[in-house]
Amino acid sequence: MFDRQSLLDYAASQRRSFEETLRDLVEIPTVSNNPDRKADVARGATFAAELIRRVGGESRLIETKGHPIVAGSFGSNPSWPTVTIYNHLDVQPAEVADGWRPELPPFKFTQQGDRYFGRGTTDDKGPAMTALWGAQYARRHGAKVNIRFLWECEEEIGSPHFESTIRTEKDSLATDSVIVSDTVWVSRARPACPAGLRGLQGFRFTLETGQTDQHSGTSGGAARNPVAELCQLVAEIFDAKTGKVKIPGFYKDVVPPTKQELADLKKCGFSTAAFKKDHLFKSLRVNDPLEIMKRVWCLPTFEVHGIAGGYTGPGIKTIVPPRATAIVSCRLVPDMKETRIIRLVKDFVRKKNKDVRIEVEHGLPAFKGHTTGAHPDAIKSAVKFAFGREPVFVREGGSIGAVLSMERVLKAPVYFLGLSLPEHGYHAPNENYDWQQAQGGMLAFAEYFRLAGELGRKR
Ligand code: BES
Ligand code: MN
Ligand code: MN
Repeated sequence: MFDRQSLLDYAASQRRSFEETLRDLVEIPTVSNNPDRKADVARGATFAAELIRRVGGESRLIETKGHPIVAGSFGSNPSWPTVTIYNHLDVQPAEVADGWRPELPPFKFTQQGDRYFGRGTTDDKGPAMTALWGAQYARRHGAKVNIRFLWECEEEIGSPHFESTIRTEKDSLATDSVIVSDTVWVSRARPACPAGLRGLQGFRFTLETGQTDQHSGTSGGAARNPVAELCQLVAEIFDAKTGKVKIPGFYKDVVPPTKQELADLKKCGFSTAAFKKDHLFKSLRVNDPLEIMKRVWCLPTFEVHGIAGGYTGPGIKTIVPPRATAIVSCRLVPDMKETRIIRLVKDFVRKKNKDVRIEVEHGLPAFKGHTTGAHPDAIKSAVKFAFGREPVFVREGGSIGAVLSMERVLKAPVYFLGLSLPEHGYHAPNENYDWQQAQGGMLAFAEYFRLAGELGRKR
């Protein structure tokens, strides 16, 4: 029943309904950072909860102070282990003007051959649906495991209400382990599971030196320029050419990768050329593959997401702008504390420019993953069964706020079975997912559920 051919037949027979469901979900613009989309996020959550019931599970919406959480459940045999699959249903904003091809509007699900385009197809609605389809097979074919789904709708805004909400629901959400399916492989040929995630601390810096635009001929020279002062501030914080952060003490808690980790990085199949191609980069700060992996996975960063202010229309408009905002963040690695980084950044900015107003945005700690034990072994063999190749354990550069919260509150270990590929374009225009990953993912999840049932209740 859990042989490859039966599973492939199942996937083929389900392809149409999988695609139709993913279409319906992608076409609900569940953009969590936009208050105008609140009703759409709620509609997405309701759709997802109904979907779980339609395919034979139980489900409910857990309200939070922000967007709801969808909780689903298949089976509740007390002598079986319980595995919870975490995904998020909210998505990053997307506008055609960001660079979506004209034939691929972001909130329309467009299928081209085996590829599915649309915001959220790979991050993270496609993987969520893939796990659900894997679970249906496993349940119908006797896997001895209770399966729960936990679908968050605030992941892309730093999971502000997730931990407090699951804390009040911790008895109903009790689980023996959690699988997060929201991460990226090294390449299509190299499945990967994260051995760690980076954390994140965001900030907005705003400087106001006047009230309205003023003629740069009549005031320029004496007037302060807030756009330029923020540029200078950013340049004082870090060297944009090398990426090196110049705030004293910034790197203090960084633990360098171990010999074993370095050895794993060297053989993980990462290629600079593929990295450039997948992310459409013209050039990079460094080209050595090991150096890139260390920088993206093992080191903290300071990043400027945008500087807003002043004139950006056609030609030149000779004004001095009155205000500017820089939206920035630091990626953090394990052992770096957000509270300490907030203090360091605030003190440094105040010292360099006392008029800059600092707003502290969401902060998430980094996560150190589990790469050994019965469950990582089961994930490895399930991925090998489905895709023909074992995953490598490398770190991820991205952040998922819910991960640490689930370990803390549910007291259950969190593991990863991600299905996205670098070329799927996380957060980018023309985001996509594909049938190969969906089909293989259904096999991998079904096989993992079978193995988890075999492992029984003891961890
Ligand atoms: N799925 C990503 C996290 C991720 C990114 C995992 C890259 C592996 C590689 C998640 O949806 C995400 O984008 N998280 C945000 C969180 C932030 C907005 C608080 C991130 O990392 O920027
Ligand atoms: Mn995601
Ligand atoms: Mn994301």
